[in-house]
Amino acid sequence: MAVGAGILLSRISGLVRERALAARPSLAYLIPSFHNPTGYSYTSAELHGVLELCRKHGVAILEDDWGSDMLSDGEYRPMLRMLGGKQVLYVNSFTKKLLPSLRIGFVAASPELVPTLVAMKRLSVLGNAWLTEAVVAEFLDRGYYDTHLQSLQRALDLRYAACLAALDELMPDGVRWTRPGGGPTLWLELPREVDLVALEAHLARRSVLISNASASFVGPAHLHGFRIAYAYLSETEMRGALTILADALKRS
Ligand SMILES: Cc1ncc(COP(=O)(O)O)c(C=O)c1O
Repeated sequence: MAVGAGILLSRISGLVRERALAARPSLAYLIPSFHNPTGYSYTSAELHGVLELCRKHGVAILEDDWGSDMLSDGEYRPMLRMLGGKQVLYVNSFTKKLLPSLRIGFVAASPELVPTLVAMKRLSVLGNAWLTEAVVAEFLDRGYYDTHLQSLQRALDLRYAACLAALDELMPDGVRWTRPGGGPTLWLELPREVDLVALEAHLARRSVLISNASASFVGPAHLHGFRIAYAYLSETEMRGALTILADALKRS
C-alpha cells in the first residue's frame, strides 16, 4: 500500500530534539529534500521550524541537497539556503545526476567562508581532481548540464512510475511504501515480524542486494525496512528484483 511519506515516517520527537540540542552542537547536518535513506522531504512548516530552532540555539546548518533537482510528481519546496540565507551552508553533488564516479559537488556559501572552506578541502583531500573539475565546469558553461537534467528526469519519472506500479502489483498485504515524488529512492516498510537480517541474506543468495539502514538511525530504528533505489535499475531489472523480494516476503 502506497502511503504519503509524512504518514509513514514519524518526525523527530521533541525529546530527541531537546537531547540533541543539549549536546550544544555547532552544526546541524540535514538532508531536507528526499532524505537518504527514507526519501522524506520536510514540509514548509518543518523547514521554517528547523531554521527557527537552530537560530534560537546558535546552531549553523549544513544542507546536503543531493536530490531537490530530481522532482517527479512531488511539490516544489524551496531549499533551506533560500529561506535561511547565511545561516545555511549549501552543498549539492553531481554524483547522482551526472556520473557516480565523479565525486564532485558544489557549495553555496558566504564569501567570507570561502577561504576557510578551500583550506579545509585542501587539508582533507590533499589535492583536487582539477582536470575532472575543469571538464565539469566546461560542461556547465556550455549549458549541457541543464539539457542533461531534463532528459534524465524523463527517464527517472518512468522508473519511478514503473517501480510504484510493480510494488502495487507484487507486494503482499502489510507492506507499505512511500511516494516521495522525487529523488532517487523510496522507503519500503515491512511488518515488524519480518527478520531483516535473514531477509538480506536470503535475497543476497538470489543476487538482490539491500543495504542495511540501521546505521542511519540515532538509537533504535523507528522504521523497519530499507530503501529502494528505483533510479538505479532498469524497469525490467527492478521488476525482477521486486518479484524475488515479494516471493520471499510471502514465504516468510
Ligand atoms: C545524502 C547524500 N548526499 C550526497 C551524496 C553524493 O556524495 P558525493 O558527491 O561525495 O558522491 C550522496 C551519495 O550517495 C548521498 O547519499
